[in-house]
Amino acid sequence: MQQIRIGMIGGGTVGGGVYKALRRNGDLLAARVGIRLAIKRIAVKAFDEPRKVAIPHSLLTLDWREVVEDPEVDLVLELAGGTTTAREMVLCALRLGKPVVTANKALLSAHGEELFGEARRRGVNLYYEASVGGGIPIIKALREGFVGNRIERIYGIVNGTCNYILTRMKLEKVDFEVALSEAQKAGYAEADPSLDIDGHDSLHKIGILASLAHGFWVDPRRIHVEGIRRLSKLDVEFASQLGYTIKLLGVAKKIQPQTAPGKSPAKNEGLLVAVYPALIPNSHVLASVNHSFNAVFVRGDVVGDTLFYGRGAGQDPTASAVLSDLADAALDLKHNTRQRVPPFVPHDKHGRLLSINEAVSRYYIRLKVVDRPGVLAAIAAVLGKANISISSVIQPEGREGDNVPLILMIHEAPNKAMADALRRVARLPVVKANPVMIRVENLD
Ligand code: HSE
Repeated sequence: MQQIRIGMIGGGTVGGGVYKALRRNGDLLAARVGIRLAIKRIAVKAFDEPRKVAIPHSLLTLDWREVVEDPEVDLVLELAGGTTTAREMVLCALRLGKPVVTANKALLSAHGEELFGEARRRGVNLYYEASVGGGIPIIKALREGFVGNRIERIYGIVNGTCNYILTRMKLEKVDFEVALSEAQKAGYAEADPSLDIDGHDSLHKIGILASLAHGFWVDPRRIHVEGIRRLSKLDVEFASQLGYTIKLLGVAKKIQPQTAPGKSPAKNEGLLVAVYPALIPNSHVLASVNHSFNAVFVRGDVVGDTLFYGRGAGQDPTASAVLSDLADAALDLKHNTRQRVPPFVPHDKHGRLLSINEAVSRYYIRLKVVDRPGVLAAIAAVLGKANISISSVIQPEGREGDNVPLILMIHEAPNKAMADALRRVARLPVVKANPVMIRVENLD
């Protein structure tokens, strides 16, 4: 049986998972694809790093170039993380005509256009199933399963750490910090957890999905991002009282841009790509995606609504996605079908990204106010002047004169008008803390 020799860079959580999974299911994989996958060399940061999965010392090296340039390495598996050296590693492999499998969403977000361009020029593939949604085969689904669809909507719960935190806050009323440290212990969180909780990991992932689905490379600097750091247990509780669940969503949807009053309505549909926490109705299936599970909702113009669900973080789910890419890469090498399913094909040169300011939403607003006569009227006056309409109000009973939370649900309003009005509300003397604003996503 033909053997494909893999050079792996990175012996950490995912690397260990791939090594373990190949040991466990290597025979099965060989039987299914007719090719044996063998790990030839592994570049690690240090020989004595603590490893949950024992790797024979004879495979290890400290020099990634030894792995990439080894003539006996047929394909390179980049699991190093980071964006600077990882970019060099991938470019080096592609220039040597070696296909690359990567799980590195930050790398693709920052340099995807360049790397896919290089792969095209060199006639090799760059595979990236493990970069989004852990074990969920969402890249394959978009690239192959939905090749005949225009993608109208993607809503993704694509960060396991944030979903774990929000779930624990909702179901067990655990504090944010406690839930974060649990997610770190479970191995879901990035080395720098701010990548998770400030929404950047979700931004990398929704950017990759949006680029693939829409055929133009979405510049990550133009993706609006908000994380979950400013949310409190109060928000989770009030949302629940109102029949909603808060989820951090990656959103890529086609919308008609809003125009300023007096300007003629823009006809050009555009793509909004953003990451923000959102209240979603409990009746929607995404509201039941709990703990470290991820889910991606995709609407295609032919297929309609679809949902992909699975473990989005952790060693084994990510290893499962890497194995799928290794099998594809091995088949491509065996049959010399180097562009069988091109990994990313630019196909919409006129695709247009819209800014969040051009979108409309409904909102949940939490204010901390003094409970005394005229407070609600003063706030409503500011909103009314901005043509923003309140749909409901909750204020838990407190003693007159105390600070109390005041929750406002707002009808659809342009994002910019809402943000401007909220700045004015925050300046009112009766408002005692920065307002919290969370979008309400219809998922329509
Ligand atoms: N930190 C990521 C998450 C790992 O929590 O989803 C998977 O990309």
